[in-house]
Amino acid sequence: MEKIVSLCKRRGFVFPGSEIYGGLANTWDYGPYGVELMNNVKKLWWSYFIHRREDMVGLDAAILMNPRVWEASGHVTSFSDPLVDCKKCHERIRGDKLIEENFGKDFFTCIDDIISDIEKRGAEHPMVKENIRTGTNKDPSWWVKETRSDLEKRKKNSISAVNYILKHDRSLKCPKCGASDFTESRSFNLMFKTYQGVIEEDAAMVYLRPETAQGIFVNFKNVQQTTRKKIPFGIGQIGKAFRNEITPGNFTFRTREFEQMEIEYFVHESKWKNIYDSWRENMNTFFVQELGFKKDNMRWRQHDKDELSHYSKETWDIEYQFPFGWGELWGIAYRTDYDLKQHEEFSGEKLEYLDPETNEKFVPHCIEPTFGVTRTVLVALLEAYDEDQVFTEKPGKTPQESVETRVVMRFSPKLAPVKAAVLPLMKKEPLGPKAREIFQLLAKHFVVEYDESGSVGKRYRRQDEIGTPYCFTVDFQTLEDDTVTVRDRDTMKQERVNVKEILSFLQDKTR
Ligand code: GAP
Repeated sequence: MEKIVSLCKRRGFVFPGSEIYGGLANTWDYGPYGVELMNNVKKLWWSYFIHRREDMVGLDAAILMNPRVWEASGHVTSFSDPLVDCKKCHERIRGDKLIEENFGKDFFTCIDDIISDIEKRGAEHPMVKENIRTGTNKDPSWWVKETRSDLEKRKKNSISAVNYILKHDRSLKCPKCGASDFTESRSFNLMFKTYQGVIEEDAAMVYLRPETAQGIFVNFKNVQQTTRKKIPFGIGQIGKAFRNEITPGNFTFRTREFEQMEIEYFVHESKWKNIYDSWRENMNTFFVQELGFKKDNMRWRQHDKDELSHYSKETWDIEYQFPFGWGELWGIAYRTDYDLKQHEEFSGEKLEYLDPETNEKFVPHCIEPTFGVTRTVLVALLEAYDEDQVFTEKPGKTPQESVETRVVMRFSPKLAPVKAAVLPLMKKEPLGPKAREIFQLLAKHFVVEYDESGSVGKRYRRQDEIGTPYCFTVDFQTLEDDTVTVRDRDTMKQERVNVKEILSFLQDKTR
């Protein structure tokens, strides 16, 4: 991960936010190559999920929405994390994450594991021992039962479960100072607040959206009526979302400002399961075929009952094997008719659909495949990063000393931020003007770079580091027969192609 972070800074993919002011924690700015890569991810997603399907349309809703939207969606009451403070060093920590990191499992599996461990170890279990030590009842078998049932009861309420575990398991330590003394956990709502207009009063308070989804739900009727789409159909949207995460981190993996690509797919309740499964297939295909990521680096994981969001009946995540462990990349939830029904209730507007064939009127159910843009960009960087050893002849050096480590970003040509570089062998006339002519020809169709500074070897290295799949070198032979050498980033092989053919060559390779 360190290598990726450093390459991103060095080569203009991702910079620390507000860097000249000392930064702002966990904000990141996408540089010239980062923004091209991100745009390519979004373009591929939009093309695959919206343009290439008859049953999908797009939307771009406002970030600021009427605050009642977030009351209806349940975010005002349920979108929170359990926050604890270390009493010694005052570090703020997400209690559930502290427990997860300690046990190396997701939170709800940790609770199940503790319960079965208590069954196995009985009065010897450290949490039971702590109860015996601090309680008035001194009967160990009574405490075994009591501790187990206490945990069972608290399973549904993460705040209460975090409190119980942190109080009774003294092995859980503050990651900053190592103390084991935490405050009671409290619910911390993740939505950012701001004020609309000049007066900062409660009546003017608005939230920055924590998910793009609600912009789609509130526009369901507008979109369905204007497009006359028949159910099943879906609406897709790409846009920023904001969450005041307690523990952001791991580079761009968890940030407070990020971007999502979300689909709300509306179905008749009776059809949800098959359609849900077909969307899971589509997500697999997008991962492997469209983005070209390795299947071995991903896995599906189902949320168990206790982990489900307040709106979901079934959720699966696609997890990716990040350098820091498996983590959520994308997800798919069956949101039932929860959101549309809530918006009907809170807005007073009917959000029903009339089936023209059966004449049935119903509130559609919804399947939601959701994708983090910024997380997908991080995965694209991780998948592409590679190092190999290359021999570069150096006068006066032994063969061993002439071997260099080459950093190469092996982006698929579709994702590569720059598709080709045009390099004149030498800066001066007549090679420079000819190379510029070729650059202009390609630049109308692709993101291409013109580079004339330094040795050709160094220029190839620079392009390898930003993942440019092809370099076209203009040399003296070009002036004679109108051919250039094309160098392939991955094989490093060079062949000559006619200048007339390079546009179609690139079109074929980047399709
Ligand atoms: N509308 C459903 C929803 O928002 P989510 O699992 O909370 O579901 C969807 O978020 C996706 O957004 C995640 O799979 C992840 O890719 C991305 N995401 C969520 N929180 C994020 C954060 N703090 N930083 C970066 N990406 C995030």
